[in-house]
Amino acid sequence: MQAQIDQYTAEINAFSPANADEVEAFRIKFLGTKGIIKDLFEQFKTVGPEEKRTFGKVLNEFKQLADAKYNELKENIGTSTQSKGNDLDLTLPGDGFAVGSRHPLSLIRNEIIDIFKRLGFVVAEGPEIEDDWHNFSALNFPDEHPARDMQDTFFIKKNNGKDDIALRTHTSSVQVRMMEHGKPPFRAIMPGRVYRNEAISARAHCFFHQVEGLYVDENVSFSDLKQTLYHFVQELYGEGTKVRFRPSYFPFTEPSAEMDISCTICGGAGCNMCKHTGWVEILGCGMVDPNVLENCGIDSKKYTGFAFGMGMERIANLKYVIRDLRLFSENDIRFLKQFQTEML
Ligand code: DAH
Repeated sequence: MQAQIDQYTAEINAFSPANADEVEAFRIKFLGTKGIIKDLFEQFKTVGPEEKRTFGKVLNEFKQLADAKYNELKENIGTSTQSKGNDLDLTLPGDGFAVGSRHPLSLIRNEIIDIFKRLGFVVAEGPEIEDDWHNFSALNFPDEHPARDMQDTFFIKKNNGKDDIALRTHTSSVQVRMMEHGKPPFRAIMPGRVYRNEAISARAHCFFHQVEGLYVDENVSFSDLKQTLYHFVQELYGEGTKVRFRPSYFPFTEPSAEMDISCTICGGAGCNMCKHTGWVEILGCGMVDPNVLENCGIDSKKYTGFAFGMGMERIANLKYVIRDLRLFSENDIRFLKQFQTEML
């Protein structure tokens, strides 16, 4: 037994592990529940009474040695293995990781925001669940206007019109919130998601995205509207893109117009995208109706303004030619990864 202990003592003193696994193996071998020390203590029970005194001391010292060695190894394992350099090679190249791409609608939204920011517009947002006042009444929609109908609007609570709560059908509601809560001048763009009760197909969806624009100040005129939108189109689709305004009707603007641009796909020569007319409609606009200004507590004798609203999917289509609206919300990785990757 003495010879055995001498041999183990030499082994312990010489032991120099390369990593944490070897330290753990050491613990199991000497100090584990089925380890050498446990075994020696078992043997110790069988020795004669005279030997017990000498061996008891030897055995205890041996155990203390193993404990002390293990504690020392445990503390030093981090530094000692690193200094040996067995596990860690600092010259190895780092692990690469895949970066996703921006959703096309985010790309378009960011581009639109950038262009208008340079003109001094701020970005504003409003809730997607709206009341009748902000979505319809304050915007001068007559009580019986068909857009209030169940066909178009997802109502959450339908009472007698005035208390109705619905998913907003357009971002024009954010104009109202902005004007109610502030003082002119206002110069803002308002991107967001809107909802309409439409059957989902390649050309219609029950939710889509709009960007609203609003500019209210003293002496704002229709020519300000035209020049602002002309500039926007040159920035977004390139110099030389033509614009034309057609008279239209919206309850919240007077006069109202729709704006077409020369087809971005065929340059005006005629293609499927522009139905061979050379023109595509991209937005509705007009001078803010004085009733709307008054509904929001703004003096319509002193202030005038223009507003516009566009569908982001349409703007994206004219850049990326995405023919099926459903692609925007299906999150098919094969579709998404075709778009530009932006580092954060
Ligand atoms: N809200 C309109 C829609 O959803 C778009 C629109 C048209 C917004 C004219 C405007 C505007 O601000 O002046 O179809």
